[in-house]
Amino acid sequence: MDSEVTALAARVAKAERLSILTGAGVSAASGVPTFRGADGLWKDFKPESLATPQAFARDPKLVWEWYDWRRQAIASCEPNAAHRVLAEWSRRFPNFTLITQNVDGLHERAGSRDVVRLHGSIWEVSCWQRCAAAPPRWRDETVPFKEIPPRCPHCGGVIRPGVVWFGESLDPAIVDRATEAADCDVFITAGTSAVVYPAAGFLELAKRHGAYTVEINPETTPATSTVDLALQGGAEVVLPRIAEDL
Ligand code: APR
Repeated sequence: MDSEVTALAARVAKAERLSILTGAGVSAASGVPTFRGADGLWKDFKPESLATPQAFARDPKLVWEWYDWRRQAIASCEPNAAHRVLAEWSRRFPNFTLITQNVDGLHERAGSRDVVRLHGSIWEVSCWQRCAAAPPRWRDETVPFKEIPPRCPHCGGVIRPGVVWFGESLDPAIVDRATEAADCDVFITAGTSAVVYPAAGFLELAKRHGAYTVEINPETTPATSTVDLALQGGAEVVLPRIAEDL
């Protein structure tokens, strides 16, 4: 892998536009459970069966118990070397965009600014009924919640996590930023199973723009055979290796 990493570092160093898409695997070394790994299963539920408006409408208590479990897990975690390298790159490279599917806030805690958060934040909430008195969303870092499901301080109804669920639309302004960032010289995807759209589509878009595409993942994914370079390993190991050679 050494010569591949050195060659990649040279491309990264001279890239006019560098974009990175991260997924749950980037936070794995911090102890945050991934969604599709064995440790991510909560009470044997698949994320697709809990992270939907229908599941929430049917059983907000069950869905909140899952999010409360994830919030507790994340609250005790620290950013790892992968988050730190990307935070450093965000300061070092003028045309650097970090797009993430992660809702854990660890990129921001490592010092990354202007993160394009495709799926929202687990630390934000909104009123499920969208009551007129409540803002569209607000930050709430209570861990754990005393009452589940937690209540809207404005109307007393149920609140929901500020994340994008399956079947919901992504914020168009956020999608625009990610779409623009796909027009780059080097596009690196790290720690994602590359199965959830539209996030998975940004890699394809970057390829169409002629970007040199890279995947960092210890496992193979649907993206592995399509990228120019697949680096097999943990993001917390591979990203610092690239950074060393810059
Ligand atoms: N470094 C890099 N990648 C890793 C590491 C690591 N240390 N450990 C695990 N991985 C990889 C796994 O091999 C897997 O391919 O991270 C990926 C995690 O995949 P998922 O759990 O599917 O997470 P993600 O791709 O972020 O999921 C996308 O699906 O459930 C929804 O909205 C949720 O944002 C999430 C989206």
